[in-house]
Amino acid sequence: MKTNKDILILGIESSCDETSISIVKNGRDVLSNVTNSQIDIHKLYGGVVPEIASRNHIINIDFVYQNALSKANISIKDINAIAVTYGPGLIGSLLVGLSFAKGLSIATKIPFIGINHIEGHIASNYITNTDLQPPFIALIVSGGHTNLVHVINYNSFKIYGSTHDDACGEAYDKIARVLGFEYPGGPKLEKAALNGINGKFSFPRGEIKNSPYDFTYSGLKSHVINVIHNIKQKNNYSIDNQTINDIALEFENSIIDSLVNRTINLSKELNINKVAICGGVSANNAIKNSLKNECLNNNISFFSPDIKYCTDNAAMIASAGYYEYINENFSSLDLNADANLEFKDKE
Ligand code: KG4
Ligand code: ZN
Repeated sequence: MKTNKDILILGIESSCDETSISIVKNGRDVLSNVTNSQIDIHKLYGGVVPEIASRNHIINIDFVYQNALSKANISIKDINAIAVTYGPGLIGSLLVGLSFAKGLSIATKIPFIGINHIEGHIASNYITNTDLQPPFIALIVSGGHTNLVHVINYNSFKIYGSTHDDACGEAYDKIARVLGFEYPGGPKLEKAALNGINGKFSFPRGEIKNSPYDFTYSGLKSHVINVIHNIKQKNNYSIDNQTINDIALEFENSIIDSLVNRTINLSKELNINKVAICGGVSANNAIKNSLKNECLNNNISFFSPDIKYCTDNAAMIASAGYYEYINENFSSLDLNADANLEFKDKE
């Protein structure tokens, strides 16, 4: 039910291979979140094919929209603003969601708000953790991004760490692929690691000189791929399941070390005792539990989104949109999709 004071935001997310539309009340309360995933289509190709992704967004978006309204049991007239991801992401995919939002805004005269996808991931924590308020440290780990951020307020951020090469989820997917797992390989690699034996392998922990909060995964990735190729060469191009599990475990250990130490160190340096993880990789229980335990050991409160809000979804875009709405930060119709939209410090 909507009272006069309630603010309803309709969120639209189509930056990669998920067509998602959600209605969120007052930034925190999800009335509906309908997502059409294209994973089954793209796994045939071993990764997301941009042209196929945008064509499928076009096919799905109206159905997803109608479903989101009917599940929330509201009419479009009840919506206060339309929030839409305008970057970063695949340009053809972004354009479908953004054009849909603009069309809807013109037809209904409801204002629209362009949202940076990465800011959306941060907001995913507001949905699950209704008591979470800035300031806090956000660790964003997804297929496209790895960032360590001081969330100063709902609309202001300072970025302390970014990856110099691969994103964390990208490294997961690439190693998983070499080990023979289907796209997206992150969850399958996590499962394999559960049966791994510690100490069978020793992989590097990437560091960037003089940038203690930045990340690098290309060295780890090359090292692990070399190890796998060497094993295969010696074994008639095969690798047994236990070895796969052992490699998965040591790979995950290296990732965990890179994320946990930096996050705890930044939290201590800035004297901020709240940490929130987000992004697709935050669905990983080994990573989540390791960070949570280290937070507990250091008297830091730990937050993470419900698993359904870890990977791409429109509820997080609607939540981020709410905090723009209350500051009256509306976008104009000439806003363009930006595949390489930067995530930068915001005052
Ligand atoms: O946030 P997201 O849905 O899309 C981007 O914005 O990139 O993240 C997708 C990424 C993929 O790389 C996927 O393999 C990874 O999140 N991922 C995981 C797990 N679940 C999803 N990585 C490791 N362990 C998981 N359980
Ligand atoms: Zn994402």
